[in-house]
Amino acid sequence: MQKLTVAVIFGGQSSEHEVSCMSATNIISALDYDKYEIIPVGITKTGNWRIYHGPTEYIKTGNWLPFSAEAAISPDASKKCLLKMVGGKYKEIPIDVVIPALHGAWGEDGTIQGLLELAQIPYVGCGVLASAVCMDKVYTKLIAKAAKIPMAKYVWCDGRTLDKEKEKFMKQVERKLGYPCFVKPSNAGSSVGISKAKNREELEKALYLAAHYDRKVIVEEAIEGREMECAVLGNEDIRVSGVGEILAAAEFYDYDAKYNNADSRTVIPADIDAESVETMRSIAAKIYRATDAAGLARVDFFVEKDSGRVLFNELNTMPGFTSISMYPMLWEEKGVTKTELMDCLIALALARDNGIRA
Ligand SMILES: Nc1ncnc2c1ncn2[C@@H]1O[C@H](COP(=O)(O)OP(=O)(O)O)[C@@H](O)[C@H]1O
Ligand SMILES: [Mg+2]
Repeated sequence: MQKLTVAVIFGGQSSEHEVSCMSATNIISALDYDKYEIIPVGITKTGNWRIYHGPTEYIKTGNWLPFSAEAAISPDASKKCLLKMVGGKYKEIPIDVVIPALHGAWGEDGTIQGLLELAQIPYVGCGVLASAVCMDKVYTKLIAKAAKIPMAKYVWCDGRTLDKEKEKFMKQVERKLGYPCFVKPSNAGSSVGISKAKNREELEKALYLAAHYDRKVIVEEAIEGREMECAVLGNEDIRVSGVGEILAAAEFYDYDAKYNNADSRTVIPADIDAESVETMRSIAAKIYRATDAAGLARVDFFVEKDSGRVLFNELNTMPGFTSISMYPMLWEEKGVTKTELMDCLIALALARDNGIRA
């Protein structure tokens, strides 16, 4: 059997560079070496593309750069290849499929997906539209609202409004949401730039912090409750996993609680009534379709403490694959190993119809 050549792209310019390196390490380890020729491609924090030929472990530890050479994916659809710099010349390496194991901006937001569409190289995961929409919390909410999916109340503004009409916006937050509230950059991930504000002083600080990361800032009412996640797999025909719970070892699931605090735990399956599980599974399928997602996504929820209401939080188009990540674990619970999951994602990438009719 001829092996498929799979390029696994990791790192990237976003604030989630390190998380991507952890995800890529696990993805590469899970891939079946009998079926795939694996080519890791690292993107440095400054956006330099490098083909990597060192030990997989070095990707996670951040020591990969010395074992790499300059490379790039050509947007030329007649080539469908990776270009590797050898002796001052580009050597063409044909690629069958790409796994963009990138999180956050310039990776999970439709940009790399756009490059791969141009190059006509199949890739794992969502296309340009779903990636872009789901990276932007304001737009995700607009789509979810149109699909009548329940969410926390929110208001948003752009940086200009914040400069000129900060007081007015803060009053709007107080009137519509009250305290405590969550302040977030519209485009970001891994909780970067997110704060919980308990009064006006904290709100003002939180707005400036969030505005540092993105042009748009979104503020949500704080939901007191539990955090649950659900995995979706498929293109037109989808499979929805069971539900897992996040027990954050902090006031909320911030960056540190996500990746550095060993006390943060995941519980699979979540200890919650069957009706709530079904509500989450059906919302997960609904938002997956509403955002035109493909391949995979992890859909996150809050279950409100007193009311038991299920509220949609976000859809992650390239969920984490770190050793503590929920997405692969939700499938393992259904008897799908990480290796089988990767086979499935690659098959879905090869089968995906991007909708473009030349
Ligand atoms: N409206 C909210 N109410 C309560 N907690 C929230 C709310 N929004 C965010 N959080 C907390 O902040 C974390 C990160 O927010 P989230 O919107 O998921 O951003 P990210 O895309 O960075 O994961 C959540 O996992 C949760 O712990
Ligand atoms: Mg989140």
